[in-house]
Amino acid sequence: MAIKYTFVGHATYILEIGGKTIVIDPFFTSNPMTQISADSVNPDFIIVSHGHFDHVEDLVAMAKRTGAKVISNFEIVGWLQKQGIENVHPQHLGGGFTHEFGHLKLTIAHHGSGLPDGSYGGNPAGLLITAEGKRLYFACDTALFLEMELYGRGGVDLFVVPIGDNFTMGPDDALEAVKMVKPKVAVPCHYNTWPPIVQDADAWAKRVEAETDTKVHALAPGASIDV
Ligand code: NI
Ligand code: MN
Repeated sequence: MAIKYTFVGHATYILEIGGKTIVIDPFFTSNPMTQISADSVNPDFIIVSHGHFDHVEDLVAMAKRTGAKVISNFEIVGWLQKQGIENVHPQHLGGGFTHEFGHLKLTIAHHGSGLPDGSYGGNPAGLLITAEGKRLYFACDTALFLEMELYGRGGVDLFVVPIGDNFTMGPDDALEAVKMVKPKVAVPCHYNTWPPIVQDADAWAKRVEAETDTKVHALAPGASIDV
């Protein structure tokens, strides 16, 4: 069965895998890139890459409303438990676990992870999901780093990669990342949300497709593809 990937906008995604719905980094309410409301989404799982506001804005409310299991690093899970959220699963960098939807490994990401109230959010992560015979690598908020090449080994069907620059990789480094990961399909994220991260995704797509064998889908917010 195909995995359905929906680009909510900015760096928020919805995966539908074998009847399970997974929200990654729930940022809906003040996300300038989406018309989707947090209350219209009913996940079974919520995965959180790091503690920054533009990844956790709707996390606590969505977890309380839906009872979804929240998967994140140990520190963010502890922060949620203090707020009465008990359906949690802590992991940490380099560690994998087979959940009902598939296998999730937290990867390295070079970034910050402070939570909106100033709490310590541990180390930020990327996400490597293996399900339905497919491998999906979400770089999440990160700088370029050479070990991305390792995550590409074994093949990557979908690579979600930031191109916004300023807070994360920009277009040049994202192109280098694609060359290391060698995915079948790349989808750019974390751009155009605010003035410092405005980028021309179509121009980036043309560069990637001219220099690699990867197909790029620069999805509009709300658009979906089958992986
Ligand atoms: Ni961030
Ligand atoms: Mn971010």
